[in-house]
Amino acid sequence: MRMDLPSNPVEIPDRVGCRPGLVLGIESSCDETAAAVIDHEGAVLSNIVSSQIAIHEKFGGIVPELAARAHLGLIDQVVEQAVSQAHVSKSDLGAIAVTQGPGLAGALLVGTSYAKALSYGLRIPIVGVNHLQGHIASAWLVDPTFPASCIVLVVSGGHTHLYRHEIDGRCVLLGRTRDDAAGEAFDKGAQMLGLGYPGGPAIDRVAPSGDPGAIVFPRFRGGKHSLDFSFSGLKTSLLYKLRKMMSAPSPDQVADLAASYQEAIVQVLVTKAFAALEQGNLDALAVVGGVSANSRLRMLLNERAARTSIRLAIPPIEYCTDNAAMIAVAGRQLLMRGAQPSIGVEVDPMGTSTSIAMAPWRGEGSDPKKETIYF
Ligand code: KG4
Ligand code: ZN
Repeated sequence: MRMDLPSNPVEIPDRVGCRPGLVLGIESSCDETAAAVIDHEGAVLSNIVSSQIAIHEKFGGIVPELAARAHLGLIDQVVEQAVSQAHVSKSDLGAIAVTQGPGLAGALLVGTSYAKALSYGLRIPIVGVNHLQGHIASAWLVDPTFPASCIVLVVSGGHTHLYRHEIDGRCVLLGRTRDDAAGEAFDKGAQMLGLGYPGGPAIDRVAPSGDPGAIVFPRFRGGKHSLDFSFSGLKTSLLYKLRKMMSAPSPDQVADLAASYQEAIVQVLVTKAFAALEQGNLDALAVVGGVSANSRLRMLLNERAARTSIRLAIPPIEYCTDNAAMIAVAGRQLLMRGAQPSIGVEVDPMGTSTSIAMAPWRGEGSDPKKETIYF
């Protein structure tokens, strides 16, 4: 039976400055099925993440079709669990925030379709959230007093972006990777080292038993004031080093390679993030996204921030990797800033047309004022 849905079943005369009440967040952009509930003040009441690692690890990476099917099988129970752990009922919810993109099309379709049906059934507003916007919002999840005027480094499996976050929520893109993302470099490096998937946590586990100075890997600098990143040279360098070895590396050699490879990634991230602070004359830095869970990166950031009196926000591990609490918080921010909720939320796999339009990036030397996005 075909059901005609009104373009927006909820009458919202003017939501500018509106507090949406309890917000249910739903995230299904990649290989985590997640749901969370936040309260009237934005505090997290529940945060459920169901990982699909067991499904994808035998393939050495994410299989999109399997991811979508797994989301379909899991989403209802994950949402039910999020609602029950928050000790609320669905009728208490004031709004739904769902990831629109960027991400896998099929996986996103499951989350958005479920969220739209729930929104229609409960007669509550629904707002689409850009996944990166969610990661950025995670910087304020634990400490809402963290300054809005800051540098934000987003380091995940698909993105390595440096932003200047303005007081009004605008984000100006200062630099980004020219090729692989930092998380991708971890994943591909781990695969070459036979450490499995996902690679970041695997390298993080092995690296402490190796010597980070054992092997010198290239570190990308770019132009004099460049805030761009590049990790493809590093990845190739690891490949050549492994090819040159006469036999498969011993566990000790793997540990040294992993520690040195990790060091090359995290040193560049720290150097560029602090260069951005200096160039922008700012004293607050947020580092978010899956790679911000890396223990060596967290240690180096904490050390340098303490030394230079920089205020640092790194989310607790559960909010670094994909989760729905960050989507709920970002959705709440959007609604409070007057974003128009719509049952017509579309998936946006490329992340180009969601409620925050990503300004096109033209690379080093381009005018940052034209790279502004509004969160
Ligand atoms: O943010 P996220 O969960 O998903 C994306 O939006 O991509 O990030 C996933 C990435 C993967 O590449 C994974 O290997 C990496 O984050 N990652 C880590 C660690 N935990 C997750 N990288 C380094 N060290 C970790 N502990
Ligand atoms: Zn993510």
